[in-house]
Amino acid sequence: MTAAEPLLVATDLRKTYGRTPALDGAELTVRAGEVVAVMGPSGSGKSTLLHCLAGIVTPDSGEVRYRGRQLSAMSDGERSALRRTDFGFVFQFGQLVPELTCLENVAMPMRLAGRRRKDAEALAATWLDRLEVADIAGQRPGEVSGGQGQRVAVARALVGDPRVVFADEPTGALDSLNGERVMRLLTEAAHDTGAAVVLVTHEPRVAAYSDREIVVRDGKSRDMERVS
Ligand SMILES: Nc1ncnc2c1ncn2[C@@H]1O[C@H](COP(=O)(O)OP(=O)(O)O)[C@@H](O)[C@H]1O
Ligand SMILES: [Mg+2]
Repeated sequence: MTAAEPLLVATDLRKTYGRTPALDGAELTVRAGEVVAVMGPSGSGKSTLLHCLAGIVTPDSGEVRYRGRQLSAMSDGERSALRRTDFGFVFQFGQLVPELTCLENVAMPMRLAGRRRKDAEALAATWLDRLEVADIAGQRPGEVSGGQGQRVAVARALVGDPRVVFADEPTGALDSLNGERVMRLLTEAAHDTGAAVVLVTHEPRVAAYSDREIVVRDGKSRDMERVS
């Protein structure tokens, strides 16, 4: 497969919660290494689209293919294995484990994958350094700022060398300066490693870090030509 071929292809996704339609024919293609911003107002279906792309939520109809394989045709075990090996996640509120240090949080995905503590923590340390938060390695998430915590979360998402990073409002809880810093570090790291990024945001300033924008409205998505 070449870099230009699509990594993730979602076709005609529909999903209803009770009587609330969350997705109503959404489509999205993500190519290797590109940063795609998914924009749209609150409640428009952005998070549901991201969860379908990542195989966390199964759509009522339509399909998601990852490297040609249909996610809904995989077993739960295969899908969770795929999320561990190929995907990384960053959420609005870091969702770091409060009992672990920042270093241990970043090392955790590798520990779960069976890596030795020493190796996992050495690699985690290089990622904390890259995200410019090496100085808080020994602190717990409750002891660091929101911006520092999000940079730790980005390090944790990238440490396993994922092909796709899913980021849902990663700067939503940060002031603009820290938000920009997180976005710059996330997109630089993704470009360096070749990971694609699916970035959900409702802030145009954050979407400006993407290569391409998709707008979701009432569960329908539309590709936007980048205006720049
Ligand atoms: N787990 C859920 N249960 C019930 N309704 C949900 C659930 N998730 C999302 N919804 C509804 O689906 C619609 C789209 O939600 P969501 O994808 O979270 O939008 P966005 O991320 O753009 O704010 C909203 O009306 C929301 O209330
Ligand atoms: Mg959302």
